[in-house]
Amino acid sequence: MQRYALVDDCSQVTSRIPFAPSTIAAPIFLAGCPEPDGHVGLHLDGKIEAPIVLAGVHPPSSHEQFNQSPLPLELSNAVIAHWDFSREMESERCVDVGPFGRHGRLVHLPTRAMKGSNWTGDEHDWRRKSEHYNAIHFHHDDVYDAGWEASVSVTLPEDIKSGPYALHISCGTSDESATREDYLAFFVRPPRNRRDRSEGPKVAFLAPTASYIAYANHGEHITARGAELQMNLLLPFGHSDLYLYDHPELGGSLYDCHADGSGVCYSSRLRPVLNFSARYHSWLGGHGSALYQYNADTHLFDWLDHKGVDYDVITDEDLHEEGFGLIQDYRVILTGTHPEYHSTAMWDAMKSWIDRGGRLMYMGGNGWYWRIAFHKTLPGVVEVRRAEDGIRTWAAEPGEYFQSFNGEFGGLWRRVGRAPNVICGVGFIAQGFDVSGYYRRAPDAENPRAAFIFEGVTEEIIGDFGLIGGGAAGIEMDCITTQLGSAPNMLRLASSDGHSPMMMLVNEEFGVVPPNLGGDVNPRVKADLAFGETPSGGALFCTSSIAWCGSLSYNNYDNNISRITANVLDRFLREAPFETAAQPTLPVDPSPLC
Ligand SMILES: [Fe+2]
Repeated sequence: MQRYALVDDCSQVTSRIPFAPSTIAAPIFLAGCPEPDGHVGLHLDGKIEAPIVLAGVHPPSSHEQFNQSPLPLELSNAVIAHWDFSREMESERCVDVGPFGRHGRLVHLPTRAMKGSNWTGDEHDWRRKSEHYNAIHFHHDDVYDAGWEASVSVTLPEDIKSGPYALHISCGTSDESATREDYLAFFVRPPRNRRDRSEGPKVAFLAPTASYIAYANHGEHITARGAELQMNLLLPFGHSDLYLYDHPELGGSLYDCHADGSGVCYSSRLRPVLNFSARYHSWLGGHGSALYQYNADTHLFDWLDHKGVDYDVITDEDLHEEGFGLIQDYRVILTGTHPEYHSTAMWDAMKSWIDRGGRLMYMGGNGWYWRIAFHKTLPGVVEVRRAEDGIRTWAAEPGEYFQSFNGEFGGLWRRVGRAPNVICGVGFIAQGFDVSGYYRRAPDAENPRAAFIFEGVTEEIIGDFGLIGGGAAGIEMDCITTQLGSAPNMLRLASSDGHSPMMMLVNEEFGVVPPNLGGDVNPRVKADLAFGETPSGGALFCTSSIAWCGSLSYNNYDNNISRITANVLDRFLREAPFETAAQPTLPVDPSPLC
């Protein structure tokens, strides 16, 4: 067979196929060509819509008639295959609506639920007008499952404790550089057959694995123009960054773009992921630290171990699959430092748990921000649509806001009436990556309801130290906003200060571009240390900052960040229900866009 590489940026591609269809039996490849070594190469970056294979010769002027449905008999006799990409959208199948049922299989998850050439803008939901979504967007760097064979397998002891673990791997001789070693992180979940969950720990760490997958092979800092100006940092690259730059075939994160400029909608963990490691060093964190997502969460693991806290680790994927039943017997759940991505099942389960008396310790910032979908049959892959609003490194095209994995409207949870404040009492307000600030006690810190939190803490300034940018308030931060759903009884215990002008308001918080404040920090840029009781005897505690956990170990764990965290955990673990404050303490805020 002769191979053709067709490049055409018009809406139609025409080619002569040099074989007689009735005389061969061979697979047909779309968006790629088989190589002699058995691999598929010459991948297409672009959309293909409603492909059809016809017997005989049909001039371009006759093609339009094959779009009729149903086809007249004289035309359908000419159809060898006709794939309708709008069918079985949530699967890997391409349905052949021609007479022979030659259904196709999609490899490495090219993007579905893409609008076709006949999209009019009248309908944005592919479930309601699927004929407008008869296109698939292929990319040469789409990757779902790298298909690696296991080179090491480890059998864990039956009685191993739930927690964060890592497999230490190395190659070369022991006197060679440490760059030849790594730690492959994994979590051990509590036993599924534990007879009575009430026997286990009362504390769970909810590992934000959906967010880890979203950030898998995050390469935006390597490829984005002006990244250093945006971050106000000279960006140091580590070995993993350089390797990622050289090997785009590993696939990007949900922050990256494909070669043709379209955003990466799908991210999987079934491929080499270089930044899911305690040793990963990247640009974020300021002051030369490299702390974001997993490696930032290791500060919390360290502190929990130092304090001797007995806890389970559960993951986002567990919560998505098992729902409320997974968490109903835990009294306290601690989040990671940046639990940003949540499916509807995860969101509902967490809200149910909080509404039934759960005590949530939100140990990070910019949580419950993006809605995602997990694939219904393929493990370890999530989808996001960067729709309409929010801090976005790319934007979904109009008409492509509905998730292909489950048909839900994607984008910010805030845009579907479920702002983060509804779950945890605070929501995203600002981000900046050069240096971190600190918290200053606010009047609510003197409220008797908060006395247990400040036991042994007399300082006005809290957290002016730490491994992430030199302070506990930084990177991405949240604040209380009643307009968006923060309960009126939330106490603003402290608000952050000491930020650089590079800590900027997130764009969903203003309707018109805010005035140039002469290099000052926008006065709304504050992380609120927050606490509030829930009507069912539970409570919320919010650090509202990604940088908080980086301060836990300062001065050999003897510091006000560690003390406050321990005070909250101690009280949250006690069975006695919290009394709901009788009177709201917060006035209703004006509209955040005013
Ligand atoms: Fe994020």
